[in-house]
Amino acid sequence: MPDTRQNAWELVTEFTTNPNLVKHMWAVEAAMRAYAHKLGQDQDRWATIGLLHDFDWEIHPTLDEHPIKGAEILAQRGWHPSIVRSVLSHYPAGTGVHPNELVEFALLACDEITGLITATALVRPTKDIRDVQLKSIKSKWKDRAFAAGVIREEVAEATTAFVAAAGPGLAGWDLWQHIAFVLEAMQGIAGELELDGRLA
Ligand SMILES: [Fe+2]
Ligand SMILES: [Fe+2]
Repeated sequence: MPDTRQNAWELVTEFTTNPNLVKHMWAVEAAMRAYAHKLGQDQDRWATIGLLHDFDWEIHPTLDEHPIKGAEILAQRGWHPSIVRSVLSHYPAGTGVHPNELVEFALLACDEITGLITATALVRPTKDIRDVQLKSIKSKWKDRAFAAGVIREEVAEATTAFVAAAGPGLAGWDLWQHIAFVLEAMQGIAGELELDGRLA
């Protein structure tokens, strides 16, 4: 069975050369692992799905192909249908596969927000994600021209759905608690993300 984090990583390196795309997948992986830990779920499985979700973006850089054609590759290589399904569910508008399992709600809630957090870190003079505070992200959130590809309504909606699906584990959580949680997860891998000040 290929369904391991190590195999996901090998697939990512096989199909992806863009370091920023790899860092995006690491960021989502870190958030997913942190949430799995918090919610008592299978950390390696959640991390694997987070790491894998955009493995085909470089070879299928349009939304009529990604992630559908990527999912075909996963299926051909024997990845478990539930993992293939979870990858498809991160783009419901294009694949018609909507989140169903908790891990899928988490993926949708974590995916795009990592981009806004990264962009916020990169406009700090220190370029260190560990210096980013939630209030900076809040002000960037309101500035629609900033990281404009991050559709705020979609992130908010995906977060509400994830919190609802998580039940007692995230009872009472709002968007900002979610974003603070993802920020903390990303701060934990500042070095891997090259957001530890080295780019300043
Ligand atoms: Fe994607
Ligand atoms: Fe993504």
